Amino acid sequence: MHFLQTLRLDIHMVRGTSQNRSTDLLYVIHPRMWPVVLFRLSSLFTRCRLGIIGKLFSLLNQILFSCDIARGARIGGGLYLPHPSGVVVGENAIIGRNCILHQGVTLGDRGECHEGSDPVLGDYIEVGTGAKILGAVHLGDYARVGANAVVLNDVEPYGVVAGIPAKLIKIREDKPLPDK
Ligand SMILES: CC(C)(COP(=O)(O)OP(=O)(O)OC[C@H]1O[C@@H](n2cnc3c(N)ncnc32)[C@H](O)[C@@H]1OP(=O)(O)O)[C@@H](O)C(=O)NCCC(=O)NCCS
Repeated sequence: MHFLQTLRLDIHMVRGTSQNRSTDLLYVIHPRMWPVVLFRLSSLFTRCRLGIIGKLFSLLNQILFSCDIARGARIGGGLYLPHPSGVVVGENAIIGRNCILHQGVTLGDRGECHEGSDPVLGDYIEVGTGAKILGAVHLGDYARVGANAVVLNDVEPYGVVAGIPAKLIKIREDKPLPDK
């Protein structure tokens, strides 16, 4: 997806609407957008073979927001980090559209023996504060992860999981997030 289109979807999540407005792009100066914009820039420059500049934006994100999203992570439009502090996303992680990651969320592999096996998240997923999603697990669309959960197994679409290790506690019945 085009850089600006992706950014527009990110802005829609902050604004809580799916309607395009001519003023949308002004929202990049909204403080809640900064860590997402820094990640988008680090990813863009890395894809354009300007990895050193990409690395600088990534470093800036770590210094300013304690937000460590690897440049290689593939994240769809509509990423929302309400409180970016402590968010860590691994190099091989894949995140779909319109996902919310709260503070202290980690998406990564399960250690030395499992390197390169990062999680894959579908669309419209919300990951609660402090949750860890580890290894090559897949979370279906609209899944929700409870605060401080440690997810080691796949989660079905609309599934709500919590605990350590995370278990299914219910199936979501509430209304979908914006844009649906
Ligand atoms: C998991 C979560 C989404 C479930 O919310 P819910 O659908 O309203 O579920 P309920 O509150 O009805 O809880 C259902 C059961 O799961 C348990 N539960 C809820 N959240 C839990 C959690 N994080 N860890 C362990 N158990 C949890 C409840 O105690 C309850 O158990 P019971 O049936 O034995 O009484 C929610 O509790 C949560 O953790 N949200 C994260 C929010 C967040 O990170 N906010 C950050 C704000 S800055």
